[in-house]
Amino acid sequence: MEIMKIAPSLLSCDFSRFGEEITRMDKAGADYMHLDVMDGHFVPNITFGAPVLKHVRKYTKKPFDVHLMISEPLRYIDDFCDAGADIITFHVECDSDIVSTIDKIHSRGVKAGLVLKPKTPAEAVFPYLDRLEWVLVMTVEPGFGGQSFMADMLPKISAIRDEISRRGLKTEIEADGGIGAANIAACAEAGVDIAVAGTAVFKAENPAEAIEALKTTADNK
Ligand code: DX5
Ligand code: ZN
Repeated sequence: MEIMKIAPSLLSCDFSRFGEEITRMDKAGADYMHLDVMDGHFVPNITFGAPVLKHVRKYTKKPFDVHLMISEPLRYIDDFCDAGADIITFHVECDSDIVSTIDKIHSRGVKAGLVLKPKTPAEAVFPYLDRLEWVLVMTVEPGFGGQSFMADMLPKISAIRDEISRRGLKTEIEADGGIGAANIAACAEAGVDIAVAGTAVFKAENPAEAIEALKTTADNK
């Protein structure tokens, strides 16, 4: 039985207690910590950068899944690696050279993933698939938590899953945006390995139960 991994998005946390919130998610059974970095240029919102991540890194041993919504990721890869990133995902729509950015991430011993915005077709990542550990499919427009899941992204996830299988790769698929009990089974069916969940976990009374319920719902697809 496949077990869906859950990556709570700290974008929904209380940032005055960022470290404790990470520990809380660790204890609740999070598989990864999903950390949304926004530069106010690539997306219309600003969050935090590498210096903040460096300070909160000690609050968990779970892997840091750093989602860069920034125009020039290549310029900052060293900073995020130094801050303790385990996986760095960046957008295929960014201004940096894609292969150079992937190579830079790998040169630091960190896993690399490419992210697609909702309007970007599956084929946009195909040229890079063999070099990637992860592909992240946005199921909302990037920039904010709490938006509605876009079910029309499911065929795109399936198309990427099929291409990964066809090539015999081990690339994992993550989906991000609006994921909760109502749609996680459909995500699993389409081939998602890791589900990001902000609102669904942070707004729950009991995050441990919410994470467990998401996994159970996904696995009973
Ligand atoms: C949106 C971020 C997401 C977001 C998910 O740009 O990439 O990670 O915080 O939050 P929910 O689950 O609330 O959509
Ligand atoms: Zn994200």
